[in-house]
Amino acid sequence: MKRVLLIIGGGIAAYKCLDLIRRLGERGIAVRCVMTKAAQAFVTPLAVGAVSNARVATDLLDLEGEREIGHIRLARDADLVVVAPATADLLARMAQGHADDLATAVLLATRAPVLVAPAMNPAMWSHRATRRNVALLAADSVHVIGPNAGEMAEKGEAGVGRMAEVAELVARIETLLGAGAREGGFGFLAVSDTRTARPAACSLLLAGRHVLVTSGPTHEPIDPVRYIANRSSGKQGHAIAAAAHRLGARVTLVSGPVEIADPAGVEVRHVETAREMLAAVEAALPADVAIFAAAVADWRVAAPGNGKIKKAAGAPPPALELVENPDILRAIAKRGPRRPTLVIGFAAETQDVVAQAAAKRKAKGADWIVANDVSEASGVFGADRNRVHVLTADGVEDWPDLDKSEVADALLRRAGAFLSRDTV
Ligand code: C5P
Repeated sequence: MKRVLLIIGGGIAAYKCLDLIRRLGERGIAVRCVMTKAAQAFVTPLAVGAVSNARVATDLLDLEGEREIGHIRLARDADLVVVAPATADLLARMAQGHADDLATAVLLATRAPVLVAPAMNPAMWSHRATRRNVALLAADSVHVIGPNAGEMAEKGEAGVGRMAEVAELVARIETLLGAGAREGGFGFLAVSDTRTARPAACSLLLAGRHVLVTSGPTHEPIDPVRYIANRSSGKQGHAIAAAAHRLGARVTLVSGPVEIADPAGVEVRHVETAREMLAAVEAALPADVAIFAAAVADWRVAAPGNGKIKKAAGAPPPALELVENPDILRAIAKRGPRRPTLVIGFAAETQDVVAQAAAKRKAKGADWIVANDVSEASGVFGADRNRVHVLTADGVEDWPDLDKSEVADALLRRAGAFLSRDTV
């Protein structure tokens, strides 16, 4: 039985931990809990103890608790340590290696992988100090999930700062424990699977490599206040950048305008238009792998207005002349010098998904195309899950329905294996 040590921090999202403990229990994962002092202001140790069916540890200097199961054993006995919600303060103390309470002492003593689920006010999350602390933790191989964009507990507050949902946490925990979704097995993952307790080998799979990723939509101005765009959320592209970072790569993410946070530990270039995206991609070369997950607008307005186009009574609406945008994937895949070793494109289709993607792979000169169905019925746009087909020179792989972060992990491990020619 896999064992998770759940460290509950002091935030309103702490109440979600009761559900998290239940969901993990249903999957046969044993959960032992540590609560910080602040966490106990949001949920009681009694409730957490009842749901986890185990004594909750709260004090470093509690003689009885230490005798029963000391903090070092708490740290050692876990297969995975999860910090949820991870407050700005707890992240800061972790980054600095504090050990002045039970939670931080355990985190310093553990050799198990650590997953943190930050949750805080958007201003605190975007503060440079927090960004710095998260980058430090990511550099120390701490896994980070979320936070998500949305409403805050405080009335009228919204932004990036909500703790990842319980379902997302469960999926990620299962992935890190090596249980669950992958068990059904796509064979190629076995090459460097985390399940076989080879975290070092796995985390180094892309060490020394530069991975370049595009993500999100582009905005093409009509005038200074209006633009043409599409519904891309950037979730898949950002998840790919985060996965590449986890596997040890240096990562450049060129992102169009999105509502989600920059992944930690990744160099992010924010752009608006397709032409800016192409320039940022060119500037980031050379790269070993380039993954084009952005939904680039096919057209832009030939001559955007310098001032706001005014509506005049009785006058016809303006006729917008459109011109074609550069195809970034094609430009990079077809370049001679400094072409990345592996160029991967995405194909979002609403019908004949695989056939369209195969044609796109040829036409654009991509090595692989990741194809998915974005018809309304598929519900992929903005969602957390994705069902993809991966087209390579060897044929088509149909991947099962996965969380976008699992698609990202699997794709990057596939890319890592390709670069080291372990497979294919
Ligand atoms: O939009 P389309 O289906 O052609 O996109 C397929 C692939 O090409 C995607 O990987 C997308 O990121 C890339 N692309 C691009 N530049 C464009 C259009 C698409 O890089 N102008």
